Amino acid sequence: MRIDIITILPEMLESPLNHSIVKRAREKGLAEIHVHSLRDFSSDKHRRVDDYSFSKGAGMVMAIQPIEKAIETLKKERDYDEIIFTTPDGKLFDQKEANTLSLKKNIIILCGHYKGVDQRVRDHFITKEISIGDYVLTGGELAAAVITDSVVRLLPGVLSDETSALTDSFQDYLLSPPVYTRPAEYKGMKVPEILLSGNDKLIDDWKHQQSIERTKKLRPDLYKKYSG
Ligand code: 6GU
Repeated sequence: MRIDIITILPEMLESPLNHSIVKRAREKGLAEIHVHSLRDFSSDKHRRVDDYSFSKGAGMVMAIQPIEKAIETLKKERDYDEIIFTTPDGKLFDQKEANTLSLKKNIIILCGHYKGVDQRVRDHFITKEISIGDYVLTGGELAAAVITDSVVRLLPGVLSDETSALTDSFQDYLLSPPVYTRPAEYKGMKVPEILLSGNDKLIDDWKHQQSIERTKKLRPDLYKKYSG
């Protein structure tokens, strides 16, 4: 899979996309991720990418020219399955959307900024608008990093069997059960007896029961989806 991210702050995406599992996926050639600086596509002599809004007092708006140039430049090289815009008024991102995106071949993510983007960009170039939650970020870069991370880890070969995405929280609307490691007792705090029993069947039943209890208690909204 190939992900092209268009941003006014490429540095902001450096670290999240160059560590841990995403880094390994890139090194193994399972995910190709390219970060593009929007300024490089500006025809303005000061490389500006924003301008004043036609509606007074509305703040700065991302201009259409550099965005159109960036998207058209990429589209000349290959076809894209989705052109995503990260924005607080987009559709709420969830595991289902991550699963869907992980099946695509080429996607572009345009990171939103300022008071938004010229509406003509959204009307003519964007195929999907995504928000990562009901709160306001300073820009869409962190959202793009979140989307990319959650999608890349789903690509075949990225995770080992042990860390398989199939057993993730949310994949079946249940939260993960608690986990423990050595020592079996620390300053009087004990690991549940059953985990030391060596009985795989009993342990699996216990884990499933714990998942259910946890979900009921912490995320009653998710539990309803699971049981209904
Ligand atoms: Cl995608 N962008 C911004 N600026 N804020 C957000 C967001 C995106 N998703 C949630 N809050």
